Formats: sequence, C-alpha cells, structure tokens
Amino acid sequence: CGIVGIVGQTPVAPLIVDALKRLEYRGYDSAGVATIENGELARRRAEGKLVNLERRLKAEPLDGNIGIGHTRWATHGVPNETNAHPHFSNGVAIVHNGIIENFAELRQELMADGYEFTSQTDTEVVAHLIARELARGTKPIDAAHAALKRLNGAFALAIMFKGDEDLIVGARNGPPLAVGHGEGEMFLGSDAIALAPFTNSVTYLEDGDWAVVRRNEFQIYTMDRVPVERQRRQSVGTSYLVDKGNHRHFMEKEIHEQPEVISHTLAHYLDFTQGTSKPLDLPFNFADIDRLAVSACGTAYLAGLVGKYWFERHARLPVDIDVASEFRYREMPISRKSAAFFVSQSGETADTLASLRYCRKEGVPIGAIVNVRESTMARESDVVMPTLAGPEIGVASTKAFTCQLSVLAALTIRAASQRGTITAEEEKALVRSLSETPRYAAQVLKLDKQIEKVSRELASYKHVLYLGRDTNFPLAMEGALKLKEISYIHAEGYAAGELKHGPIALIDENMPVIVIAPHDRIFEKTVSNMQEVAARGGKIILITDQKGAAQATVKTLETIVLPDVPEFIAPIIYALPIQMLAYFTAVFMGTDVDQPRNLAKSVTVE
Ligand code: G6P
Repeated sequence: CGIVGIVGQTPVAPLIVDALKRLEYRGYDSAGVATIENGELARRRAEGKLVNLERRLKAEPLDGNIGIGHTRWATHGVPNETNAHPHFSNGVAIVHNGIIENFAELRQELMADGYEFTSQTDTEVVAHLIARELARGTKPIDAAHAALKRLNGAFALAIMFKGDEDLIVGARNGPPLAVGHGEGEMFLGSDAIALAPFTNSVTYLEDGDWAVVRRNEFQIYTMDRVPVERQRRQSVGTSYLVDKGNHRHFMEKEIHEQPEVISHTLAHYLDFTQGTSKPLDLPFNFADIDRLAVSACGTAYLAGLVGKYWFERHARLPVDIDVASEFRYREMPISRKSAAFFVSQSGETADTLASLRYCRKEGVPIGAIVNVRESTMARESDVVMPTLAGPEIGVASTKAFTCQLSVLAALTIRAASQRGTITAEEEKALVRSLSETPRYAAQVLKLDKQIEKVSRELASYKHVLYLGRDTNFPLAMEGALKLKEISYIHAEGYAAGELKHGPIALIDENMPVIVIAPHDRIFEKTVSNMQEVAARGGKIILITDQKGAAQATVKTLETIVLPDVPEFIAPIIYALPIQMLAYFTAVFMGTDVDQPRNLAKSVTVE
C-alpha cells in the first residue's frame, strides 16, 4: 500500500523504513526493503508491523546507497513474509501497489517459459517479465518499459536492477506515485507525506507515466515513450504527522480537531457577515440542472447520502447516489442537464475515480469534494471543492467526514439560492446555523466521560444495531461502520422505520440498540420505534437533545444529551458522539485504533 525508493548518498535502509512509517496510516499487513549491497540485490521482509521489519534489520542490517521499500496490503496471497515485497527475479527487484488484472495469463506464459513462482502475488509476474526481457539481452530501462506495456490493471511500481546502482524505474497507472527531488539524491514515494523528511519538492506521475530516476537526473515518459514534463510542486502541511499531541491515537486527535477544521472549511464556502454562500467557480448554474449524480465509497458515501437529503429538501434537486463500486458498472443514464459530484478524502479511491471518469465520458460537469488537493480526482475535475480537514491519518475517517458534510451543506445553500427554492432570509438562517457548528461540536466533545462509560458497556456485546430516520439514517450507518471498522463488533445501521421489516427479529437483551433521535419533525415516529425495541427487551442507548430527552418516554440504558441544535446542522453535530462511541469502544477492546486490521486508508484497487 506504500512505496518508497531512494537513490542516495548514504545507506538507505533506515531512511526507507522511516519513510514507510510515515505511510503506515494507509494500513498494511507486511513490509520489506531491498538494496544493492556489494553489487548484489539483498532484502529483508517481515509479516505484520514495521517493528518486525526493524527487528530483522537490526539482526541482519542491509548496506547499500540505493533501495526500494514497501508496505503491503494483501490482495493476492495471504500477508506473510514470502508474499511481502520486494519481489526478485534474476537481478530485478520490484515493489508494487495495485492489482495486475491479467496476472493469471502472464503467469501461465512465464511458467511455460520455465519461470518459477515463489509467492502467490500478482506482483511476481512483473519481476519475471522484466527478467525475461533482460535475459533476451534487452537493457534495463527498455526491459522495464517492455514489461510495463504488457500490464493491465492498476499499479504503482518501483523497479531496481542489479548492476546499476544509479537507477530506479517508477511507473504509475492508478495508485499515486511521486518523484521527490533532492541534492544529488532522488526519491520515489506514494505521497508527499512519505517524502517529507527528504524533500518538499515533488513531481507526481500521471496515469500511464513511467520515470527513470537517477541521483542527478530524472525523466518521465508516456507509455509510448514520449518524454513529458510534469509540474513540480512544493508539498505543504506535512508537519502534521510529527506527533499525536496529547492524544493516544491519531483518531482521537482528529476527532478533537473537528471544531477547528469544520470552521476553516465552512469559512471557505460561506460569507458569515453577509449570511450568504460564496460564489463558487462552478462550470454550471444549479438552476440549469435537473439532477445531481453523487458517488463515493465508505464514509464519504455516507456523507453524500446526507447530502442527498439536504439537496432534495432545500434545493428541490433530485440526487442519484451510489457507492462507487456499483455506480461505475451500472451504466446509469445521465441526462445532459446533470452535474456529478464525487466525495473522497484521499481523492485516489479507485472505484470513485472510475465513476468520475464514467461521468466525464458522459460529458457532464464534474466536481470533486476532496481533502487531498494534489490528488488525481482533483486534477481530473472541472471544479475542486476542498475539505480543509488537514491530513487525516487514522484509517477510520472522522474529521474528513464532518468536513465533507460541511461542504455539502454549503453547496446545498448555494444550490437552493440559485434555484430560488429558499428566500434570502432563509439563506441567512441556514448560514447562521452552520456558523454555530464549531461551537456545538466543541460542546459535544465535552461529553467524553459519559460516552466513555457507555462504550465500556458496549465493548461487552457482540452485536449492535444503530437506528435513525431522515439524515440520521445515513448517520446510523456511519455509526455502525465506525464501530465495526475499529472495534470489530458487528454493527448494522438501519432506517428506524425499517426495523419492523426484519431486524426486529434480532432484538433481545444481547443486542443494544443505539438510536439517533434529535427532537426534529419526525421525532415522535422514532420514539414509536424505540417503544417497539423496549417492548422486546431491547436495551436502548439514546442520542438526542435536551428537548428530546425531556419528551422521550422510553426507558433507556443510557441517554446521551446533546445541545439543542438547528435541524439543518444536526448531522454534523451527531457525527461526533458516534465517532467517540466507536473510538472508546475500540480502546476498551484493545484493538489497533489507527490501523485496524484488514483496512486501508486509501483503496486504490477495485
Ligand atoms: C477506505 C477508508 C474509509 C474511507 C473509504 C473511502 O475504506 O478506510 O475510511 O471512507 O476508503 O476513501 P476516500 O479516500 O475515497 O474518502
């Protein structure tokens, strides 16, 4: 899931491991590093966390001023040492992110040629392909290029050759890869964060690019081998990674950053003194479209789903929304009078990117709501609508989610105002309510002691049900998603009204039901659903506001009382207690909160 390469002046193995640590946040399950030591390829690999690799390196150090390293998130083959990268084949060393889709066919072809496979990975075919070219007398760079042309699928690659201690070949088709520029040394990395200790001057490869990287020079080529120039950028904001402050985990830190980052994000889109939404550089007017297509994955999808309720209610604009893995293949008809928005923290998620490209082909205007401004989605959109959350390190998204909601709320106001579905007074009221979000969010954070207590209780269950109506329905799904992601407790999020169409069969004293129910237009309806749970011996944890707490007649195991907030901003405020519940529960369970098992921060494969 993370790649680092260095053509350096001093032994690189420790530097590579440090850089890999900065990529840890992406999630991984094994790691490895290879260098050229006394003219020979040498490597150390280890299953599990980077400390295991460090231990290996301590026992058996690696010398060499050139090297490549990798953290692997398993796709083909279990996470063990043999499947860990770098993979070798006759003088070729390689690390790879992504999936080689035609690997089965290539593997057969190579086996017929006598190549033996030592791993179950798709990556090893690339090493053998290049080695076969070398064996035919092809020079290293030409051999790499010839092999690249045979590959289908998604890949970022770094390739090193025995016999050339001044050469790493990098390639990108999907997962990001950047060249970092140093003084008499050169770097390759999955992102600017990995390269931050070495340089902040980076050049991102574009899809279909490959690069020849040497100490004092580099050149990027297209797949047809035409030399190309790509923009060199100064990366910013990478110091965020330095420490967790007073917090035990990045996730906790990021939860606490929310009042501040929500406020930055809102200020980008709203003029609080005028009480209006700021003009955006949109390539269309909301009044001229009759549908909005939205697509995203995971938590970003759930932000989009809240957005659907907002756009439809306030701007009377119908929204088609899908998880991106469905969107990209379901061949949805898109009318010319549509626009398409894509929501993504990383801006790199493979399915979301493919959906974006589908809409691009359909010829509709594209907007990307992304947190990483240098990302592929940002580059391929007509308009970038940034979330100003700062780097998010915890795999489970928190502050990016509330910032996505903030952008969607601001866009809703913009759309409603352009479409004439709200008056100037109503616009002011909505903007005013959003301006109060950071203050309310800060108040909610103070409920941590009570939420920690509830979480201690939750940690003793195997199953949890989350219920909500309207915008609290996507939030119920987000609450369940957070809980399963980091505490590994099975959780489902349901529309409260659907309870009686299935999940009610599961209700007993062994499955607590968390109900998100601010005192809104349909509060009474949700109270009825709680009665149905209580009547069957279900234990209820109610998340509500002061009015709701006063009026809910149902006996609860615990009631978490939030401040009374305007209905429009409730989804942003109610996101916090569900994040905190998941966080504390995971801490009680003793799981790896920031890097939960099997999950990756940025999923650049299908
Ligand atoms: C992964 C992460 C989630 C995230 C999803 C979408 O599954 O673990 O936290 O919501 O990807 O990522 P994106 O970068 O597109 O928002």
